[in-house]
Amino acid sequence: MTASADSKTTDLAGRVLAGEALDNLPSQHFIDGTWQGSESGAMLDTYDPGCAEVWHQIPAGTAGDAEQAVASSQQAFEQWRKTTPAQRAEVMQNAARLIGENAERLAVIESLDCGKSLVDAEWDIGTVQKYLNYYAGAADKLEGDTIPLGPDMMSFNILEPVGVTTHIIPWNYPISTMFRGIAPALAVGCTAVVKPAETTSVSALVVAELLSKAGLPDGVCNVVTGLGAEVGAPLCQHPDVRHVTFTGSVPTGSAVMGMAAKNIASVTLELGGKSPAVVLADADIEAAAEDLVMAIYENAGQVCSAGSRLVIHRSVHQQFLEVFMAKARQLTIGHALRRPDVAAINSAQQLAKVAGYVDGAKARGLEVLMGGNVTTDPVSGKGWFYEPTLIYDVLHQDCIVQEEIFGPVLAVQLVDSDEQALSYANGTDFGLAACVYTRDITKALRMARDFDAGIITINQYFAGGVSTPFGGNKKSGFGREKGLEALRAYCRVKSITAKI
Ligand code: NAI
Ligand code: MG
Repeated sequence: MTASADSKTTDLAGRVLAGEALDNLPSQHFIDGTWQGSESGAMLDTYDPGCAEVWHQIPAGTAGDAEQAVASSQQAFEQWRKTTPAQRAEVMQNAARLIGENAERLAVIESLDCGKSLVDAEWDIGTVQKYLNYYAGAADKLEGDTIPLGPDMMSFNILEPVGVTTHIIPWNYPISTMFRGIAPALAVGCTAVVKPAETTSVSALVVAELLSKAGLPDGVCNVVTGLGAEVGAPLCQHPDVRHVTFTGSVPTGSAVMGMAAKNIASVTLELGGKSPAVVLADADIEAAAEDLVMAIYENAGQVCSAGSRLVIHRSVHQQFLEVFMAKARQLTIGHALRRPDVAAINSAQQLAKVAGYVDGAKARGLEVLMGGNVTTDPVSGKGWFYEPTLIYDVLHQDCIVQEEIFGPVLAVQLVDSDEQALSYANGTDFGLAACVYTRDITKALRMARDFDAGIITINQYFAGGVSTPFGGNKKSGFGREKGLEALRAYCRVKSITAKI
């Protein structure tokens, strides 16, 4: 038992840190309201990145499992689409309540599986509740239009659910990304098959059963686990799936779009980013520096919209970096259940990717002003961690600026004018988020207009919430999640016109 576990022996996280195993963890798919083993019987190990050890196993799903899940969701759709909006809202509100009652256990599970700080996992569970309540409230507000065609005609539009939807989930925000997709889908009357990432599947299985206990009919939300190519792909190319919501890498997103295209199914793609935080000369430098520390180091930079590029006016950069690095050097690193500021890296593979980018930068002679090393949990000496890192004065064409690293690595780009800042901000293949720091609101709004990105913030990097649309331009994808915008993906318009 560690010192920090000692002080927490009254709560679940403390007991788990001290060696207690969580009981009743699911190790089967959740299909049609019941637990079901994989057709193949094969299992996959899932790791706790905070100590790099296997902590549980999940089913290695197959095309046969995917087929069963889609068939169940297709059947359930015929029932769920006929429920009233109020009935759907009630189930979703029940689910939000039940998830709240299970929040401590869910957060510990999410922390262990992802490596993310328990602080962040608790926030994510709260976000899940917000998604459920927000979209429950939207269920009875899906109003259509009337179209004036003259006195002897009557024409109106109604919104219908598209049908079975597939949700392919990444490993950085597993449970909150799942509900970002399924909450609007369920609210409009669609059914959902969820395929979590193979390294972070446990929370999706736990929550699938909670949805069922909240009153969600069997098959309305099925969860199957396993590798993307083996069970994810069949869920994207199944002819009965009408929409695929995907969050992950650009190559996999492109492949998913190709699979859905075979059936003319629609897709929402939320892919990566290389999002700029632009600090102009007149910004509140201290406030900007404090804000940007977590814009890049939260969840160890494994955030699609992370502020991974600092585009800063040369005249203020020294003052900025002093404040930024002083604060960043105080960040704690460690096992998720010790509530660190900086989380573990989710897999050995991802850690190698991050280290590879920084080692390459060093080899090219770039200046690493802070961090730049693989590290471990300071208590156990184990786990997959990377130091908060800052790479100084990087050329715009360098891969450290152009490619998504998905780790705690900030690239600093110095500029001499606002025009150059904008040109650098827009100068990558991505277009997910962009933030500008300035005291001049006209400048800020002009930049907001000119940024080529889907999510713009001013003077606070992660401003917004479940009600603000989220999604990107260019290779960051298309379609918008969150907010009322998200409902569009799960509805189709039917126009009805009568001669009277
Ligand atoms: P990935 O895009 O391959 O995985 C994301 C999800 O897609 C997982 O659930 C995976 O099982 C599934 N998947 C993989 N192949 C599939 C296929 N053929 N058909 C259907 N589903 C499939 O990403 P990966 O390899 O885990 O991470 C690689 C990089 O992707 C990261 O380093 C990061 O740059 C980026 N990424 C971006 C995320 C974002 O939030 N936009 C989230 C996760 C990763
Ligand atoms: Mg794991």
